[in-house]
Amino acid sequence: MYDHLTIVKHPLVQHKLTLMREKTTSTAVFRQLLREISLLLAYEVTRELEMTTKQVETPLQVMDAPTLRGRKLALISILRAGNGLLDGMLELIPSARVGFVGLYRDEQTLKPHKYYFKVPDQLGERMVIAVDPMLATGNSSAAAIDMLKEAGAKDIRFLCLLAAPEGVARMKEAHPDVPIVTAALDEKLNDLGYIVPGLGDAGDRMFGTK
Ligand code: URA
Repeated sequence: MYDHLTIVKHPLVQHKLTLMREKTTSTAVFRQLLREISLLLAYEVTRELEMTTKQVETPLQVMDAPTLRGRKLALISILRAGNGLLDGMLELIPSARVGFVGLYRDEQTLKPHKYYFKVPDQLGERMVIAVDPMLATGNSSAAAIDMLKEAGAKDIRFLCLLAAPEGVARMKEAHPDVPIVTAALDEKLNDLGYIVPGLGDAGDRMFGTK
């Protein structure tokens, strides 16, 4: 069932995630940790970027050295919590193009509603990485990926911090071609659609709202 899921078990990722889960962790520290973790997750999710070589002249000789090939990749933040992952990723990949998908979750039905959509051009020629810290029901994520495919995206990955089994299953059913990278797969969703044990509402914790 989880063949399209990669859990990044690197000790630094796991240690930082544990600090983020603690309810006493302040907004400032939570945000900083998310930024740091996103650098490490970005490293994993971009592992399969296409490479070519270019000739460079070192102080000693000319060589064919590896370099990235093709169009700049596109990072798509699923608002609003996606922005917490986006900031760190842009530090690692400053030339990436950036898009935003605005979805809010109806707290009664848990279904996603679109309020904003702006993405880079030529999506079909880029690796597209959609980011949202919490893969909970998977409804918003699956809807966001639908929209990206409608806009032409073909090579899509989904990056999150925490995933629930329900969300992973939903994504696999809707988008089996989209690999998921996460720092942890938690136990379940509770009746309110929160990931358990989780870390609470990621948006509220990173932005200091309630
Ligand atoms: N969104 C969150 O921020 N937290 C959850 O646990 C589930 C969805």
